[in-house]
Amino acid sequence: MDPRSQKRVIADELRRARQRTDDLLAPLSHEQLMSQVSPLQSPLVWDLAHIGHFEELWLLREIGAQEPFRAEHDDVYDAFAHVRSERGELPILAPEPARAYVADVRRRVVDLLDEVQLDGQPLLEDGFVFGIVLQHELQHVETMTQTLQLGALPGPARGAPPEASATGDLLVAEGPFALGATAAEPWAYDNERPQHIVSLPAFRIDRGLVTNAEYESFVRAGGYRDRSLWSDEGRAWLDDERLDAPLFWERDGDRWLRRRFDVLEPLPPREPVQHVSWFEADAYARAAGKRLPTEVEWEKAARTAGGELEHLQGAVWQWTASRFDGYPGFTAFPYAEYSEVFFGDAYRVLRGGAWITDPLVARISFRNWDYPQRRQIFSGIRCAADA
Ligand SMILES: [Fe+2]
Repeated sequence: MDPRSQKRVIADELRRARQRTDDLLAPLSHEQLMSQVSPLQSPLVWDLAHIGHFEELWLLREIGAQEPFRAEHDDVYDAFAHVRSERGELPILAPEPARAYVADVRRRVVDLLDEVQLDGQPLLEDGFVFGIVLQHELQHVETMTQTLQLGALPGPARGAPPEASATGDLLVAEGPFALGATAAEPWAYDNERPQHIVSLPAFRIDRGLVTNAEYESFVRAGGYRDRSLWSDEGRAWLDDERLDAPLFWERDGDRWLRRRFDVLEPLPPREPVQHVSWFEADAYARAAGKRLPTEVEWEKAARTAGGELEHLQGAVWQWTASRFDGYPGFTAFPYAEYSEVFFGDAYRVLRGGAWITDPLVARISFRNWDYPQRRQIFSGIRCAADA
């Protein structure tokens, strides 16, 4: 793409991302924006100013060599300096100053985009650093949506995944394929690279996602009480938490309701189940005589038979059996704190993207990760099996 149209794309995407942020937060009061609704999440106004701070750091300061707006922001809005549960206690900006700050940063960024040359150094090549800033904002839109869900606050207009209808599974033949981001995806993250050839034995993967109705059958059949269905870690988690259904499900006599943001409604049977932990996904798959796909299987199915899989993207994140780690030859870029510090046994990988995930982020190669007990994320299940 020539540099002028590349800049136009970036400017349009910056506007679109900001619109999503503004639309999400517009219905909320001062108190709702300031409150810490859960130890798992930041106050919404922290996310907002942090979006601006990240943009200031990477674009105005790193690329534009500008002076910091306010030195104390570097501590308050550094995601690694304070855990989420403490952010409500920090001297964070109130909604009005936070909005003014992010708007001020954005005005300067638009000027910078005009002046800067999109090549000559790895950060600027193909507008990479702008791509990172954009995806960061859009990923926070999703994080803030989790906060809205946890806090029973008003959610976005299209506030649920699309219904599922596919049945049956698909055989993916054995053989090699290219795993990871292609050269045509310059804004892919470091953990999606380098692309490399992987060979897999044949496997089967479900065409559709597990629906609420299917998951409800698992619940009714005693899935949470049958300890043989759960991994050791999953059993320990279940004993601690004493759960009998996905997060946000509520029993109402003989039926289940689910809370979607600030609305309590009958469980929609054909929607993909969401807000399940990895432990629940793993147990469900075992009960169905199947297993979770590895993330490599998921990507191979997506790349070689994606057209035959329903809601591959844009419905719910799909838990995989895989732990989060770097691909062979991984190099951290532009900073280790995006993904490298999370490599290891603690996290499981999710693939695909949810209804709230922006298409700019949800590449086939995109890797999401979280703790196996987390359920506030928009996570669901696609099962696989050995061939
Ligand atoms: Fe962030």
